[in-house]
Amino acid sequence: MEATEFVQNYYQKRYQTDSLKWDGLEERYGDGKLLPLWVADMDFSVPPFVQETLKKRIDHGIFGYSLVPTSYFSAYEGWQRRHEQTAFQKDWLHFTTGVVQGLYDLISCFTEEDDQIIIQPPVYYPFFDAIKKQKRQLVTSNLVETKAGYQMDLAGFENQLINNNVKLFILCSPHNPVGRVWTKAELTEVFRLCKENDVLVISDEIHSDLILPGYSFVSAVTIAEELNFLDHLIVCNAPSKTFNLAALLNAHIWLPDKDLQIQYQDWANKHRQTENSVLGQLAGLTAYDKGDDWLQSLLSVINQNYQLLKEQLGKNIPEIKVHDLQGTYLAWLDLRNWLKTPETKSFIQEQAGLAIDYGEWFSAETKGFIRINLATSSDNIKFTLNRLYEVNRKIKGGK
Ligand SMILES: Cc1ncc(COP(=O)(O)O)c(C=O)c1O
Repeated sequence: MEATEFVQNYYQKRYQTDSLKWDGLEERYGDGKLLPLWVADMDFSVPPFVQETLKKRIDHGIFGYSLVPTSYFSAYEGWQRRHEQTAFQKDWLHFTTGVVQGLYDLISCFTEEDDQIIIQPPVYYPFFDAIKKQKRQLVTSNLVETKAGYQMDLAGFENQLINNNVKLFILCSPHNPVGRVWTKAELTEVFRLCKENDVLVISDEIHSDLILPGYSFVSAVTIAEELNFLDHLIVCNAPSKTFNLAALLNAHIWLPDKDLQIQYQDWANKHRQTENSVLGQLAGLTAYDKGDDWLQSLLSVINQNYQLLKEQLGKNIPEIKVHDLQGTYLAWLDLRNWLKTPETKSFIQEQAGLAIDYGEWFSAETKGFIRINLATSSDNIKFTLNRLYEVNRKIKGGK
């Protein structure tokens, strides 16, 4: 399906649907009238076959305790094989209500208070909270901006592992917010350092299906298999970003290693007694079974919105740097050559009327950056551009 047709079919108005993104604006930004381009969910309804599955289950009318549908595993395994080239195995899989909940649990299970955990800012802000709120020590190895885009600082990363006796690395792959899809070489090198220093890795791969043309996702499992490092690897992923299912509370933790499985099971027996989400699992399995073409069309919309943003800003406000988007639907913009950093909120939120994620949420060092959610209609992206041009006229006129 063409991008325009996809938007016509699936874009929905979301006001007054208890949407965090649209109805939570007042609480989060103090202004309910902003255009929401923040939190990472999409303004598109799920594929019709997913809705049909859900409707059928709802018509049944009973929502008692449920088993995992038996066809879940074959649907998920097929998806992984087709999209991630991963030979996923059923006994690796544990369910959780969300990847963030999974990260909290894994930190609690596999580390002790005061253990050192490393992340690579600017990065998805709940990583910081999951570490600090559970009284672990935060170690950072910032990504570095080079002419070729963001890269891992491998020498700095190695120093941090050694100097801090790091126990756990939380990798974001693809990376939110900088939009990088890590290459095989980068992943191999960073995993090699973890192996040498006996560091456990959690790879958060929730965005792994959202890959733009020209890039290929490489699963942590592929690298760990080659390095004989599966005994130190945990992967988290979910159908929620790909198919817009976050509120149905179904996500995955993979534990390829038997000892890690036993340790997690033992921990979960003491601390986790949640049930499965029957609606989440039915939606997920149907999407995995039939969602290949839908995903391709979605990606063409994201790519179209990204190209529009990049080209138009390049022409009209070249001071704004739009970082290359390789994966995710989240564009990362550097406004520092355009606005004085302390004025970002006043221009973007108060004058342009946009609700975006601020750079400082992802790292103290990325003040003056913003993250824009592109999983919306092209009209909303055009509206965003026009608001930015208006602000630009004021700025230039005022100089
Ligand atoms: C890297 C990353 N991990 C996890 C999540 C959230 O996952 P969940 O809703 O399953 O907790 C997000 C959402 O934006 C994300 O970007």
